[in-house]
Amino acid sequence: MDRTTCQEMLKIVLEVIQDIPTLPNVVYHLTRLMENPATSALQVSEVISRDQALTAKVLKLVNSAYYGFPRKINTVSQAVVILGYNNIRNLVFTTSVFDVVVKPNGSEPLFNKVKFWEHSLGCAASAKIITKKMGFKKTEETFIAGLLHDLGKIVLYHFLEGESAEVLMVAAERDLLLIEAEQEVLGINHTYAGKLLADKWNLPRDITAAISFHHNPLPAGDNFRLCSIIHLADILSRCLNIGSGGDNKIPLLNERSWEVLNLSWDKMKHILSEVETEMEKAQAFINLLEA
Ligand SMILES: [Fe+2]
Ligand SMILES: [Fe+2]
Repeated sequence: MDRTTCQEMLKIVLEVIQDIPTLPNVVYHLTRLMENPATSALQVSEVISRDQALTAKVLKLVNSAYYGFPRKINTVSQAVVILGYNNIRNLVFTTSVFDVVVKPNGSEPLFNKVKFWEHSLGCAASAKIITKKMGFKKTEETFIAGLLHDLGKIVLYHFLEGESAEVLMVAAERDLLLIEAEQEVLGINHTYAGKLLADKWNLPRDITAAISFHHNPLPAGDNFRLCSIIHLADILSRCLNIGSGGDNKIPLLNERSWEVLNLSWDKMKHILSEVETEMEKAQAFINLLEA
């Protein structure tokens, strides 16, 4: 695709993103609060509690089988204390993102929506298990990053239908990765489209990085390790045939990412067998988001 057409396409994508609704105000309040190190748990729960629908959803999620806490959590402030600021923030982001991109009335996306979310869930569950096996605590953060990693595909295949139909055709006919077909047909790909939407929504930096660099983690800077986890999780979800990311190809694993993850083949075997159990729990999480 030549430069002018590529620029025209970028203009179209930006217009499409302009029309995608913003996230609720509470999300932006929460982001501002999180930027201030002096913020208290009480302030965080007060902001969430102002939105009744959100409060109900957060409580349903923290009491779901996904978390499996032994005792019922009755208030948002309890949830904030138990899960921590970052996890609550990510939960609120994810709930709001789902409300905007999954539930809107209107036309069906070009790809199979159920299979797409299954793929995202497979990536989320794999990311969580990889993180655990690496001995890191931030399993919830990588879970959410995995769930949202292909957000740009929603932009291209749900909100920008006409131009993207050709991408799917080219990918299928020539057995290309979707990202390769997007680059060829549109001149931009879903990682960039996703980044533009993440920027509009002011999504947390680490999640935006996972959206931008899950196919090539090398330029991810501080977030290289996180992006490498999502990169491997995306590949695992495809290898295990969980849902569909819109193509049937398996991307090559980045060598530097494999090095930094420092996983033995033995650990990989355990990861693969644990993903299935994690998928069942994760399904409970996504069912509540879609409810
Ligand atoms: Fe992707
Ligand atoms: Fe993916």
